[in-house]
Order: sequence, then C-alpha cells, then structure tokens
Amino acid sequence: MSTTDPAFLDPAFPALHGRPDQGWINDPNGCIKVDGVHHLFFQFNPDAPTHGNVHWGHATSTDLVRWTQQPIALYPRKGAADAVGAWSGVIALDGDVPTAYYTGIAETEHDSQVMTATSDRALTEWKQEQQGILGMPDEPNIGDVRDPFLFTFEGTQYAIQGAGYKDGTPVILLYRCHTMTNWEYLGPLVTGGSGVAQEWAPAQIWECPQLFVVDGQWVLMLSLWNREDHSLDRVTYLTGELSEGGSGLKFLPTGGGLIDAGPDFYAPQVVAGTAEEPRTLMWGWSWEKSRNDADILASGWAGVLSYARVLSFRDGALRSEPVAEVATLRAGILHESTAGDSEQFAVPATSRAFEILADGAVELVLVDGEAHGAVQRVVAAVDGGRILVDGSLLEIFTADGQATTVRAYPTATSYFLVRGAATVHKLAL
Ligand code: FRU
Repeated sequence: MSTTDPAFLDPAFPALHGRPDQGWINDPNGCIKVDGVHHLFFQFNPDAPTHGNVHWGHATSTDLVRWTQQPIALYPRKGAADAVGAWSGVIALDGDVPTAYYTGIAETEHDSQVMTATSDRALTEWKQEQQGILGMPDEPNIGDVRDPFLFTFEGTQYAIQGAGYKDGTPVILLYRCHTMTNWEYLGPLVTGGSGVAQEWAPAQIWECPQLFVVDGQWVLMLSLWNREDHSLDRVTYLTGELSEGGSGLKFLPTGGGLIDAGPDFYAPQVVAGTAEEPRTLMWGWSWEKSRNDADILASGWAGVLSYARVLSFRDGALRSEPVAEVATLRAGILHESTAGDSEQFAVPATSRAFEILADGAVELVLVDGEAHGAVQRVVAAVDGGRILVDGSLLEIFTADGQATTVRAYPTATSYFLVRGAATVHKLAL
C-alpha cells in the first residue's frame, strides 16, 4: 500500500492483514495451496464498505503473512444464477483443475444454487458457469441453504451445506458427490434445536459449516446466525462420531466448545492438514460491529481477515494459535519489562501494529483524546499469553490457547498503553 493512501493514514486500518485498501470484505473463501502458493479468497464488495454486490476477492502468499492482492476472481453477473451475489464456498481440485464451489444468489438468499467456476493453476483466470450444479433441496420446510463445503470419508467424496428450516431450526445438509459436479442430496447430516447441538450451537441457520479431522477427532465448526436480532452470534464447534448410516452418513455430536471467545470473529474457513502442509489452518472474518456507520462510510473500508491460525486439541478443547510465520513480522523490540514491574508503556503512534508477549497479568488500554481529559479503556487483558494488535484488530491468545478477537478503534489522537510485565515487539511487513 502506498503511504499516501487514505487507508494508510487511518490508524484503525489493519495494514498487515493483507486486505484491499477499499471496500467491504467478509468471509474467507476458497483457501487452498496450489503449486506452493497459498491462495486466500474473500467475500468482497469493491465499490463500498457495505455488504452487497458480493464478489470473490483474491490474495496470494508464499509465507502466510505477506499477501499480494490479485485481480477479482468471481463476479456477480446480470442474468446468471449469481446475479445478486457470489456468496461463500470453497475451492478444490477437480482432477488438477482448481474449481470453486460457491453459493449463487439469483434474486433472494432464500433461493440459492451451488455454482462452479474453473481456473488455471495460478487461480487468476476464472471461468464461471452460467447455471448452478444444484438448487434448493426438494423439501418445502427448508428456508435457507448456503456455503458448500467438501470433505472425504473413507475414500468417498461428500459435500455439506449450511441451512435453516423455516421454523428456525438449523441443519446441515449432506450430499454424495458422484463426480465433483454431480451431487446427490442425501438428507440432513445433523439437525439443531435439541441436545448437544442446541447446547453448543443454538442458531436459526448454521452458516459456513466446516467438517474436518484434527488430532484424530472429527470436528464440525458452525457459524451461528440468529434471526431474532440478525446477529452473527459467534462460532462454535461440535465434536462427535462420523459414521456410515441413514441415507449416507451420520454425525452424532458428543461435545463442543467456542472456537473464539470474542464478539468479532465469524465465518472461519478451515483447511485440513495434508502431507505438504500438515497444519490444520483457519482464517476468520472480523467485522466492524462496534464502529458506527458514518465512520465506516467515511473510511471507505470494512472487515478484515484474521492472521492464519493453527488448530489443535489441548486438554480436550479445540484451540487456535497464530501460525509461527507471524513471528517473522517482528521488527524490533519496543519495550521490555520484568515480572513485578508496575510500569506502563505507551506504544508510539508510529507502531500501529505490535505484539505483546505477556509475562503475567497484562492489560492493554486504549487512551482516547488529547492528553487533557483523555479517556482510558481496557480493551484486552491476559495472564500470560499474547496480544497481536494491527490498527483496530486485536487478536488475543491466553496462555492455555483460548483465542479472542475484538476490535478497538484508535484515532489520530489516541494511543495504546501496555500495563504489566511484557515484551512488546513492533510488527511490520
Ligand atoms: C456468512 C455469510 C454466508 C454467506 C456470505 C454472504 O457471513 O452470511 O453464509 O454465504 O456471508 O456474504
């Protein structure tokens, strides 16, 4: 980004997170590594910092932290089944052809199709099909269906989609993929509204389902969409048994948990480990819930994707931590203090991205306004662990691995204070 760009001058802009300078972004989509290059796509409105006219933006990286923006990959197209939006989905190889499986919205979100698009191996030359490979299931009680996700079980290719019944019960729909473009609807894989699923994943629609194995355990990750207040109500996971049964597969949830404890993390996409990249990687979307609309419009940008995180089980709970490569952004120690040190450190405004390695109880305070009459607000607190700050994006990891994503918006006259014993690194590209 050029230093004269308005986004660069906006102290709230998360400049290290590889998002375009302008426009709206939401969910990460189609995360895949092809020929040694990591590709990250995302829901993108290039024209305004509001949700609408959704495209797939695209960025590439070879180290998971330094991203290069690429041309837009998928477009909503007049007259096609994605006229209103190219909503979320995944990319998989069909043979050796990178293929996007995404949600096409022709008129309303209550009538979606699974659409496909194919590309070259650089994932930059996309050809979108005019019609989808699959429409709504022939079940009048189902109100919303979206966000295809592919997985294999014992050598057979399956897909799922997130969905909700009209009565407000969330459900995951299961498909057998006879070929990568010939899918047969098998019925519900798991239904919410009662038992373990209701305990951990209460919602009206389960969005962006991700089904994968980590540390030998099947995990179903769900983004909880709540109709009552239209809130994007956090991301939880269910653990359980996946087995053959019913008309295809059965998933019996036996436990669950919160994947991120913050209010500003949603719709993550997970890439299961492979021989080439054994880590189970995850990216999530952080939205601008606590920033007012006028400020968003004035800034011209909204939304950011998290750093890539690695998933693993720790003491029976699914945890995440930033990929080790994030440490390569360290660009000098700003401050070092030792346990028992009561001193506080004011982070210079020239370091809008920094990392706090806590050596015990540490608070991060945002001080707003001129020194005279300044307002102080604790925006993060840990006891041990790590806080990564990039403009307004705070990614907090406690010593036991619980992630919390929150936003706090510095302005030109505000600054952050670190209270407690910690090492503070400047982060830079
Ligand atoms: C999740 C979501 C998805 C949908 C997309 C639309 O944030 O609502 O379910 O495909 O965003 O942008």
